[in-house]
Amino acid sequence: MSSATPTAKAGGAVRAAGTDGRAQRPIVAMRHISKIYATGDAEVHAVRDVSLTIERGDFVAIMGASGSGKSTMMNIVGCLDIPTQGWYWLDGVDVRLLDEVALAEVRSRKIGFVFQSYNLIPRTTALANVELPLAYAGVHRQERRQRAIAAIEAVGLSERMSHLPNEMSGGQQQRVAVARAIVTNPAMILADEPTGNLDTTAAEDVMRIFSALNEEGRTVVLITHEADIAAFAKRVIRLRDGQIIEDYRVAAVAGRPPRLGAEHTIRTVEAS
Ligand SMILES: Nc1ncnc2c1ncn2[C@@H]1O[C@H](COP(=O)(O)OP(=O)(O)OP(=O)(O)O)[C@@H](O)[C@H]1O
Ligand SMILES: [Mg+2]
Repeated sequence: MSSATPTAKAGGAVRAAGTDGRAQRPIVAMRHISKIYATGDAEVHAVRDVSLTIERGDFVAIMGASGSGKSTMMNIVGCLDIPTQGWYWLDGVDVRLLDEVALAEVRSRKIGFVFQSYNLIPRTTALANVELPLAYAGVHRQERRQRAIAAIEAVGLSERMSHLPNEMSGGQQQRVAVARAIVTNPAMILADEPTGNLDTTAAEDVMRIFSALNEEGRTVVLITHEADIAAFAKRVIRLRDGQIIEDYRVAAVAGRPPRLGAEHTIRTVEAS
């Protein structure tokens, strides 16, 4: 439960200074966010008074040592967890005003998640795995199939559509997970160490796909331990003990992702 104290100004939408257009509204606006876990008689301050704005179209890498609060931050950004204190507007919506059902709805409409361990459903084909979020969203069977096929093509796995997860390499499984994350056409992709289980080549393939998705306008936020992976991002944020200790920009939000391969293009997954 959130114990944040509402204030009169907290309910309004946050906009970038000097603009009133929807395109300029940051996708993430957090103010004074803290997360405290109570474990037995000890309290863990996983995130401490973090304020963070992420612009639409940015490509952000979050780095930091184990236990520095990266996943906790990501889970709050993705509305998988609720902060103990602070304000969070996701795409202009004050998420504190949403109940569980509305939060789940916002998550499924606005965010695509990718995790280190792929989290594919075993004994279920790549295509069926990618269709699943659309099934939950109530998309009709035929459209579901078409969009899932387009998403799988977008990650370069047309030849593996009817394969089961255990018939694919780690890199291929993660690409299926990326296809599943983008099939709903989310504005933002959140990835928690998506390359953590992959070798260098497979990791770079996945990162080029994220770069291409970012190039076509999607916001990408990923957690990584590796500088080589962070080098794909436009902005790098480093956490220590639940606080931002470093935040620097490598490329403009509207610019090209720094390591988008010239040879790599991706087709947009059309919204319904
Ligand atoms: N559900 C929980 N209950 C209690 N403490 C937690 C919980 N989740 C995380 N923590 C604690 O909060 C701190 C931050 O954890 P978090 O998972 O965000 O770190 P991380 O930066 O993602 O680390 P890693 O790189 O190992 O994944 C840690 O001290 C962790 O033990
Ligand atoms: Mg983590």
